Amino acid sequence: MENILDNHAQYVEGRVMENSDESNLDSQKCYLFPQISVSDNLKFLSNIPDSTVKTIITSPPYNIGKNYEKRGSIDTYPAKQRLVIEECVRVLHPQGSICWQVGNFVRSGEIIPLDILLHPIFCELGLQMRNRIIWHFEHGLHCRNRFSGRYETINWYTKNNDYTFNLDPVRVPSKYPNKRHFKGPNKGKLSGNPLGKNPSDLWIFPNVKSNHVEKTIHPCQFPIELVERLVLSLSNKGDIVLDPYLGVGSTMLGALMHNRGAMGCDTNPEYIRIAWERYNKLISGTLKTRPMNKPVYDPSLPKGGHR
Ligand SMILES: C[S@@+](CC[C@H](N)C(=O)[O-])C[C@H]1O[C@@H](n2cnc3c(N)ncnc32)[C@H](O)[C@@H]1O
Repeated sequence: MENILDNHAQYVEGRVMENSDESNLDSQKCYLFPQISVSDNLKFLSNIPDSTVKTIITSPPYNIGKNYEKRGSIDTYPAKQRLVIEECVRVLHPQGSICWQVGNFVRSGEIIPLDILLHPIFCELGLQMRNRIIWHFEHGLHCRNRFSGRYETINWYTKNNDYTFNLDPVRVPSKYPNKRHFKGPNKGKLSGNPLGKNPSDLWIFPNVKSNHVEKTIHPCQFPIELVERLVLSLSNKGDIVLDPYLGVGSTMLGALMHNRGAMGCDTNPEYIRIAWERYNKLISGTLKTRPMNKPVYDPSLPKGGHR
């Protein structure tokens, strides 16, 4: 079997992105060379050795008739997804994580949440769910006969109880950073973590619509800041991050930006071409992304709450 990891340890010299936190340190940076290709994911996954991938971050087609998929029967959807999930579990490192990001299938106005449909597959394959993260965003279709949908889910599963989880790199500012204990042995000391608080399982990131700085021709891209939070918390530097439904490479970029290796595939050659184009911008320091800790635009605040 061809070993797809053979080229994984190649480094490419590039430049730090302009809006990166690292830009004041050194403008040169080494990136791991990504392993991405135009391929069906079952074929791509079959070339990856067992237990080698630390983090899988992906969003499969929802079977809703987007231009990259054929709308099929919802009854056969879980069985097809199972084949890919089984392969993902096989390649997953013992301390690794799978994050499966999905929304709803809609049939005659009835919604079928896909994470609920797929959850039994992950359980049957022996994975443990750590969080069902709600990703809330402001923009989407306006419904007439039900409340407009403004969230999707990221189901996070691990293979074991001993798994990589780094909270400090993804802490967010505390609401009351100077709050102190007012009695007891810690009286006068800060009551919260000075590095910030746990970001919780409700994540608010703008979805990638036409005015988003990361927008390409892809109809449903991940915002890179969402990938970054998962990469930083669920992997370590040098680990491999995989997306078997790569699209235009958002997972790859989030991984490379934080010194992780990146692998993935998509059946659409144009999406992979754009993924390479975005990669070239990354290494030349010209990729524009929405920074991870930028507050969501709030029209009630001066400048929308932005600096
Ligand atoms: C929801 S999109 C993922 C978008 C991605 N997260 C991004 O940020 O660009 C799903 C992707 O799966 C791809 N796809 C569908 N079936 C596939 C298969 N069998 N193997 C690999 N990719 C597939 C589609 O072309 C589409 O780009």
